[in-house]
Amino acid sequence: MHIGRTISAVQTPIIPIVGEWTRNTPGTLSLGQGMVSYPPPASALQAILDFGSRPADHLYGSPLGHPHLLELIEEKLRGENKIDCKSGYQIMVTAGSNMAFLNVLLAIADPDDEIILPLPYYFNQEMAIRMLNCTPVAVPTDAHYQLNIDALRAAITEKTRAIVTVSPNNPSGAVYPEAALRAVNQLCTEHGLYHISDEAYEYFTYSVARHFSPGSISEAQQHTISLYSLSKAYGFASWRIGYMVIPEALLPSLLKVQDTNLICPPLITQYAAIGALETGSSYCKTRLQELAIIRAKVTTQLQALSGVNIIATEGAFYLLLKLDTEKNDLELVKSLISDFKVAVIPGCAFGLQDGCYLRVSYGMLDAGAASIATHRLVNGLERLF
Ligand SMILES: Cc1ncc(COP(=O)(O)O)c(C=O)c1O
Repeated sequence: MHIGRTISAVQTPIIPIVGEWTRNTPGTLSLGQGMVSYPPPASALQAILDFGSRPADHLYGSPLGHPHLLELIEEKLRGENKIDCKSGYQIMVTAGSNMAFLNVLLAIADPDDEIILPLPYYFNQEMAIRMLNCTPVAVPTDAHYQLNIDALRAAITEKTRAIVTVSPNNPSGAVYPEAALRAVNQLCTEHGLYHISDEAYEYFTYSVARHFSPGSISEAQQHTISLYSLSKAYGFASWRIGYMVIPEALLPSLLKVQDTNLICPPLITQYAAIGALETGSSYCKTRLQELAIIRAKVTTQLQALSGVNIIATEGAFYLLLKLDTEKNDLELVKSLISDFKVAVIPGCAFGLQDGCYLRVSYGMLDAGAASIATHRLVNGLERLF
């Protein structure tokens, strides 16, 4: 039977591939998938204890999201992100922020349009762009994985519709300074482009790095789209809750998309999200100290390896290793799993073609397991290249 050409050209998702190799090698420790090790706050689980007892629990709800959740999000955006939703923005809840990204593209782009992604990119964004028959335009970042504003400017054409920034970044961990994000936003103003700002890791910054939300820039309301997720901050990966802040003018288009593929965000997870937001970001921030210790240890262990270049970055829970080898990254990952029982993600998934890169995620393991996993990785890399 026929399979669409467009979808055939989309890269095969890497996480299930590495996941299967991992499952086939029992005892493998994962420095692969980008998840946190902690569960949602107790308040999230508490909030759904009596779910199902009200008739409305079983009905379609608002496509924008549950009114109380929207209120809490609005308050959070005002207090933490300095985004004022009363001034030209709308909030829409989605089943995770990957969905928000795809929905946004459906609303702003036509086939053949171009979307600029700083390189390395988050693979699902590149996949979403290709799925819609648009063209991802990858623009290399600098030696510290920071944005190159001149290169971004040079990549703009008549067909460009948006520039995407992910800060803190997956896969590099880079946190873009306020000035750089303002420069991108300004570029978008000048060229009539959307600035799509993915802030899934907004709380995950270390040392002196500070998160900045471009949606807070005055006069940014007409062209700035901000994406948020509860998956990382609140240990909500399976619950599928995210939200976007969009220019008001995009609302009718996004309502068409939402109505067609989700109708309304699932109510039970919205109640859980209400519980989580009532606890608030302090939940994630207290976990961050533990994560910072793991990050420091993993980095020190890996730095001892010769032939491995690690650029120190200050966000998310990722480290990107560049290996001084001719070896194929995917093959290397396969061998690391089968021979050394440790999983990481190959750089090719993030568009990195100029060498052998591996993404190490240290968010999912406790300190002891992370240390063992890193030891296996060091051992494996010492032997494999
Ligand atoms: C940059 C970025 N955005 C979005 C997501 C997905 O978030 P969600 O679980 O809300 O769809 C991820 C997950 O790894 C991510 O790294």
